[in-house]
Amino acid sequence: MASLEMRRVSDLAHILITGAAGFIGSHLTDRLLQEGHTVSGVDNFTRGRRENLCSALQHRTFHLVENDLSTEAGCIDAFTAACRIAPIDSVWHLAANSDVQAGVADPSIDLRDTFLTTFHVVGAMRRFGARAIVFASSSAIYGVHNGPLAEDSGPLFPISNYGAMKLASEGIISAATESFLSSAYVMRFPNVVGGRATHGVIFDFIEKLRRSPSVLDVLGDGNQQKPYLHVSELVDAMIFITDHSRERVNCFNISVCDEGATVRSIAETVVRLIAPGTPIGYEANERGWVGDVPSFRYTIDRLSALGWRAKLSSMKAVERATIECHAQKGACSS
Ligand SMILES: NC(=O)c1ccc[n+]([C@@H]2O[C@H](COP(=O)([O-])OP(=O)(O)OC[C@H]3O[C@@H](n4cnc5c(N)ncnc54)[C@H](O)[C@@H]3O)[C@@H](O)[C@H]2O)c1
Repeated sequence: MASLEMRRVSDLAHILITGAAGFIGSHLTDRLLQEGHTVSGVDNFTRGRRENLCSALQHRTFHLVENDLSTEAGCIDAFTAACRIAPIDSVWHLAANSDVQAGVADPSIDLRDTFLTTFHVVGAMRRFGARAIVFASSSAIYGVHNGPLAEDSGPLFPISNYGAMKLASEGIISAATESFLSSAYVMRFPNVVGGRATHGVIFDFIEKLRRSPSVLDVLGDGNQQKPYLHVSELVDAMIFITDHSRERVNCFNISVCDEGATVRSIAETVVRLIAPGTPIGYEANERGWVGDVPSFRYTIDRLSALGWRAKLSSMKAVERATIECHAQKGACSS
């Protein structure tokens, strides 16, 4: 067997995924199981849903562990349960608060679920000898900038507690690579869309239309513009990066190569596809809510140079995700 450093992260046999019952975590779990890995999925089900793991739970190499990772004791219990199956080769850390607005109203939510989960997961990795981490970071760490953002753009002044706690998490991970981690993959996601979404603009629009079908009320003036990546492509990119980048700390923006989609165009797409003719109402303000970055653009030169490119444009991803989210009605949606 090759040494850990010689092997690709996704070659490793036993992968622990935190936030496995969530939107992205469940798609990642399915994909890594399909590729033949043993997966221990940890979640506390605050936002994650058991139905998201319908397919994974049929798999004999999937093990579900229910624990709160924001405490040291919860992490130790989760890692102990996972290590009963086999030593953990890599940890893909996705557990976090994903409701940015909730974290603006109550900063303790992001302290607990976005930062302390990372702090204690990294601590448990040291204790249990897991040496490679893949971390789900976010465009929110950049704050508001004018130009396109590269991985080394700065200064980094996040405008939400969520962004601040993601940035602090990146720092804890980078520090750990100086001592016991052999490799870290910090992946900064754009807006990710697709079936099983637990939040986000498409999810919100569909929920609003279900609750009050007479009008779709949009937060902000509709001109907020961001890139949107389909979850299947995100998972593809995550695995591609771990297979092809071999630095000790590997930091990548992941995104589509276009100008993004406006909230107005998303609202119009959702209405066209699921509630034709419904009027759409906008507000006068530029930002949807406090902590919302109205527009951003990534440079993905580093990822392109590595050889990966998204196939779907932002608008195609939005269309596909609208159909998938509209079709999902509880159990075993894909
Ligand atoms: N969806 C996006 O557009 C997007 C964009 C940028 C970054 N991200 C990051 O990707 C990751 C996955 O996001 P998602 O969209 O799937 O969100 P999600 O809310 O669907 O998934 C997060 C999961 O973590 C679990 N969790 C939260 N706190 C926990 C705790 N204390 N202990 C154990 N489990 C806990 C939740 O129950 C949930 O299942 C997150 O880290 C998020 O910050 C997502």
